[in-house]
Amino acid sequence: MSKIVNILKEQKSIPLDKFINIALYDKKFGYYMKKNPLGPRGDFITSPLISSLFAEMIAIWCVAFWENLGKPKKILLVELGPGDGSLSYDLLNSFKNFKKFYNSINIRLLEKSKKLKKIQKNKIKNKKVKWIQKISDLNSGPLIFLGNEFFDSLSIKQVYRKKNSYLEKYVKLSKNNKLDFFFKKAEKKLVKNIKKYKLLSSGNVIEYPSDAIKYLEIIGEKIKKYNGGILLFDYGYTKNKNKNTLQSVKDHKYLNILSDPGNSDITSHINYSFLTKILERKNLKIEKIITQSEFLQKLGIIERASIISKNQTFKEKANMFYRLKRLLHYKEMGVLFKTMFVHNKKTKFSLGFK
Ligand SMILES: C[S@@+](CC[C@H](N)C(=O)[O-])C[C@H]1O[C@@H](n2cnc3c(N)ncnc32)[C@H](O)[C@@H]1O
Repeated sequence: MSKIVNILKEQKSIPLDKFINIALYDKKFGYYMKKNPLGPRGDFITSPLISSLFAEMIAIWCVAFWENLGKPKKILLVELGPGDGSLSYDLLNSFKNFKKFYNSINIRLLEKSKKLKKIQKNKIKNKKVKWIQKISDLNSGPLIFLGNEFFDSLSIKQVYRKKNSYLEKYVKLSKNNKLDFFFKKAEKKLVKNIKKYKLLSSGNVIEYPSDAIKYLEIIGEKIKKYNGGILLFDYGYTKNKNKNTLQSVKDHKYLNILSDPGNSDITSHINYSFLTKILERKNLKIEKIITQSEFLQKLGIIERASIISKNQTFKEKANMFYRLKRLLHYKEMGVLFKTMFVHNKKTKFSLGFK
């Protein structure tokens, strides 16, 4: 907290997106820079850590996509924000069952946190895997970008509309060095973009994912140039909500965003219709956004679990199906989590989406 208090003493106020970036990614103070937040003993759990069946389904999808692209001799899988490395680790294990594909695939990981990078390096010891600093460094393809809960961990701006005026959310110090929100007139460029992307359909809260836009623009250009696509899993909504979706989590419980920055996760829900608009501007094909449950079931996750269960003890079976339920049930991760696939228009591939 002291780092943010010091910054605010100097700068008086900072916009919400800057506050989130410091709270999550400041080199010393940032939440993701200090610890591994994932897993039962961390603050939250993600699909790859719940069951390796999640990675298995994605592995099959990647192999089918590669076949559809004409089995290129080389293909790059770029995982965005790999956390503790579980997804790429499990993907590689599954890829080994498809020899030709395994020979063609290489993996690039984009990770901001040095702490997590170290955990990933200890977990995945495979020459096929390298870490990259920036997406702009990628200069060959085809490319498969893959992200699970990557975009929800990027910072956002929030703007409130009051009739015809637009007010941006900032953080400042109030009495006793406590953090507080307040609003300032939004800059013209931001208001122009909000109008350009038609971000306001109802309500009066506009969430503007400034970082996601930067990433998607460059990812879109790479897909256009080198062919391939992007497969995303994240929680979010498909129609503009205009609601405040910011949330903070610590020890698997929600807390106020301002109460423990640097020691709690801060995320927001993905506005899929907005992400779609960014990629449509790159003239790419966006498959219908579906739920995580639909995608995994179309790829045969239940059938696969049934086959595996034949050689399992009752306890193992119960554990596997309990985890499967967490991935698929509408009250758990099955429906709030959506899957999005965007690719070059010349590619005709929609496995899992039709
Ligand atoms: C919510 S975690 C998800 C981890 C993992 N994908 C999973 O599903 O278990 C977000 C991940 O994205 C990383 N991350 C966030 N912003 C990033 C950025 N701008 N560049 C690279 N990695 C980033 C975090 O450090 C973390 O590894």
